[in-house]
Amino acid sequence: MFSIFKKNKKVTVHIGNIVEQDMHSHILPGIDDGAADVDISISLIRGMMACGIKKFIGTPHIMSELHKNNRDTITNAYQKLKTALDEQQIEIAVRYAAEYMIDENFPNLLKEGNLLTVTGNKILVETPFYYEPIDIEDILFQIETAGYQAILAHPERYHFVDHKLGIFKKYFDHNVELQLNILSLSGYYGSKEKEVAEKLLDAGLYTYIGTDLHHERHLKRLSHIQIDRSVLKKLENTDWLNKHI
Ligand SMILES: [Fe+2]
Repeated sequence: MFSIFKKNKKVTVHIGNIVEQDMHSHILPGIDDGAADVDISISLIRGMMACGIKKFIGTPHIMSELHKNNRDTITNAYQKLKTALDEQQIEIAVRYAAEYMIDENFPNLLKEGNLLTVTGNKILVETPFYYEPIDIEDILFQIETAGYQAILAHPERYHFVDHKLGIFKKYFDHNVELQLNILSLSGYYGSKEKEVAEKLLDAGLYTYIGTDLHHERHLKRLSHIQIDRSVLKKLENTDWLNKHI
């Protein structure tokens, strides 16, 4: 009994010890449900710098209904942030991409091409939380034929994903990579999310890790994130591709 307790002892994680590049964040000001203005952007960035993050990719939502962003709105928000960072002499690497919702408009964006990539030809995508798009396999095929590779954001959080990981076969068949939200491991989103994240991590199926930082509440948790000691070992032993972004 004592040894089980010891094995699952919680430890506080310094994120910079695992990864120094955050490839999923909502730090660009005023264009989605992340930082509402540039002052909040700066405060979130400062907070994450204290956690050891040295490079950010801002990935605002692009959704056909809720967040109608495009390359222009995202570039403008980035410029606002860059100006403020320069004025305040904050030296930090920030780039931008997007988090594309696989919705009814996404195939049109694919046809237009010129998508915002996280690195190389890789795009960050998400699906609705409550259901898997019925034509998902067709969309994954279209992503590939358009010359992109998808990174699926926070697979552990979707309600249609459970402990049986077989659902991911079709994603892997289309070369999709998986990105872990580090907060999932702390139970922040719920126990199912935590367990699925641990299972995917155990199986070595994640290649990217991100904060998905939206606001002060996330920052607070990320600054003092607590996870099981055994899980921390696995995080440390994973060869995260973040270092290549
Ligand atoms: Fe996100």
